[in-house]
Amino acid sequence: MRTLITGGCGFIGSRLAAALLADPSASVRLVDDLSVGSPDANADLPIAEIARDDFASRSNGDFGRAEFIVGDVLDADFMAEVVEGVDAIVHLAAESGVPQSIERPVAATRVNVMGTLNCLEAARAAGIRRFVFASSSAAVGNSEMPVHERRPTSPLSPYGASKLAGEGYCAAYFHAYDIDTVALRFGNVYGPGSGHKTSVVAKFIRQATAGETLEIYGDGSQTRDFIYVDDLVEAIRLATRVEGVGGEVFQIAAGSETTIGELADNLVSVLNGCGHGVQVRYTEPRRGDAQRNYSDTSKAREMLGWQPRVDLPEGLRRTAEWFGVGEEA
Ligand SMILES: NC(=O)c1ccc[n+]([C@@H]2O[C@H](COP(=O)([O-])OP(=O)(O)OC[C@H]3O[C@@H](n4cnc5c(N)ncnc54)[C@H](O)[C@@H]3O)[C@@H](O)[C@H]2O)c1
Repeated sequence: MRTLITGGCGFIGSRLAAALLADPSASVRLVDDLSVGSPDANADLPIAEIARDDFASRSNGDFGRAEFIVGDVLDADFMAEVVEGVDAIVHLAAESGVPQSIERPVAATRVNVMGTLNCLEAARAAGIRRFVFASSSAAVGNSEMPVHERRPTSPLSPYGASKLAGEGYCAAYFHAYDIDTVALRFGNVYGPGSGHKTSVVAKFIRQATAGETLEIYGDGSQTRDFIYVDDLVEAIRLATRVEGVGGEVFQIAAGSETTIGELADNLVSVLNGCGHGVQVRYTEPRRGDAQRNYSDTSKAREMLGWQPRVDLPEGLRRTAEWFGVGEEA
């Protein structure tokens, strides 16, 4: 299986690359414009960086075991070149923050919608049959809980709207062009490799290790569904190969509802156990954030044969350790 990963130097992309390369028969090609991610994320992997000109002069379809090309998913010519010889595309590259999308809705839409369309077009032109799209629970927005795939959608942010649009194009490319597109709506992903993320677990650990007070938006009663990155990566891996899932959308999360207050308590006990005294304070709620969010993941269990394995205390412990606040700290 030869897999192209867009956003391959990001949090999830680098973890996915490592997991796929654990199979000696697998090959990966990473694409990233390095706007957020860094090749350092893959420093432990045997990945060769190839200059775009050198790549373009290779014969079509040549595929190294593990390679990385700097480029932008908004560049349609570049995408057409890099999909040559690929069996499946995992499209992760995106502007991935809710607050950023509220500040710059057009920029987020351009990358998340046009970038996705470019990748789908490249897949269509090259005859690639499998396309996995990183959607988000933010595509659903306000909904009855738990969220499942049949609930009506009502995004609360341009980010959520852009992910919903991406799901729409995936459905269209499945029906119009027979590409087995699979949209995975990730819950709140956390874990090793998330040092640059502004999402709540990474932010809390950074604040705690800097000796700062943990800052909770609102009263801490808002809920999220936290999924450990390696569990998510396994769902992506399955989505690239399980048959009969073309055109489908899946909620991928732990399937449990955790308040931000509970998350902070869990983290405080992990960090205090490591000798970090941590305080919590409450600030103004943030626009674009859903009050409740957690997922019914039974469809992914049934059709992908997937289930999460790492619970929140264990996942937080592993994450804190990666941040350098492990057992000995
Ligand atoms: N992390 C989460 O909790 C979460 C939750 C739901 C959905 N997602 C989605 O999963 C995907 C990956 O998220 P992540 O947490 O790894 O984010 P990330 O920001 O760590 O990684 C995204 C990568 O894409 C790259 N990128 C951005 N714009 C690009 C462009 N135009 N061309 C090429 N590369 C570009 C960035 O440099 C970065 O390395 C995103 O689509 C995100 O929206 C993430």
